[in-house]
Amino acid sequence: MRIDILTVVPELLDSPLNESILKRAQNVGLVEIHIHNLRDYTEDKHRRVDDYPFGGDAGMVIRVEPVFNAVNHLKSHREYDEIIYTSPDGEKYTQREANRLSTLKNIIILCGHYKGIDHRIREHLITKEISIGDYVLTGGELAAAVITDSIVRIVPGAIGDETSALTDSFQDGLLAPPVYTRPADFNGWKVPDILLSGNFAKIKKWQEDLSVERTRILRPDLLKE
Ligand code: ADE
Repeated sequence: MRIDILTVVPELLDSPLNESILKRAQNVGLVEIHIHNLRDYTEDKHRRVDDYPFGGDAGMVIRVEPVFNAVNHLKSHREYDEIIYTSPDGEKYTQREANRLSTLKNIIILCGHYKGIDHRIREHLITKEISIGDYVLTGGELAAAVITDSIVRIVPGAIGDETSALTDSFQDGLLAPPVYTRPADFNGWKVPDILLSGNFAKIKKWQEDLSVERTRILRPDLLKE
């Protein structure tokens, strides 16, 4: 899988996408993540990618030209399954959408910009708009990092223990059960006896029951879905 991210602040994406599981997934060739500076795609001699909005509002707007050039350049090398724009206006991001995106071959993520991007980009180039929640970030880079992280970690082979992504919260529409590690007794704070019983069938049943119970208490909306 290949993910191309277009941004005016590439520095914001460096570290979150190059550590831990994402770093390993790239090193072993499971995914390619390419971060592109939109300023590299403008013919403006000062490398400016934004301009004043028509109508006289405050703030700056990303121009069509650099985005058009960047997307065309990428498309001339391969086909893209989805061209995503990160924006609070977009469809609310879910695990289900992360699962779907993880099955695609090539995607572009265009990071939003404080004031916005020329609307013609959204009309003519973007195939999907995604919001990571009902709050406003300074730009779309952190949203792009969230989306990329959630996709890459479920690409088969990205997580060492193949089964562990499948037991995540949300993967089956339920929250994950609690987990514990040694010591079994920390100053009187005890691990549930069942987990020390060695009876794996009973442990599994206990985990499933707690998943449902925790979902019912903490996120009853998930059960309705
Ligand atoms: N850009 C600014 N706020 C955002 C959000 N909530 N989701 C996605 N992109 C954004």
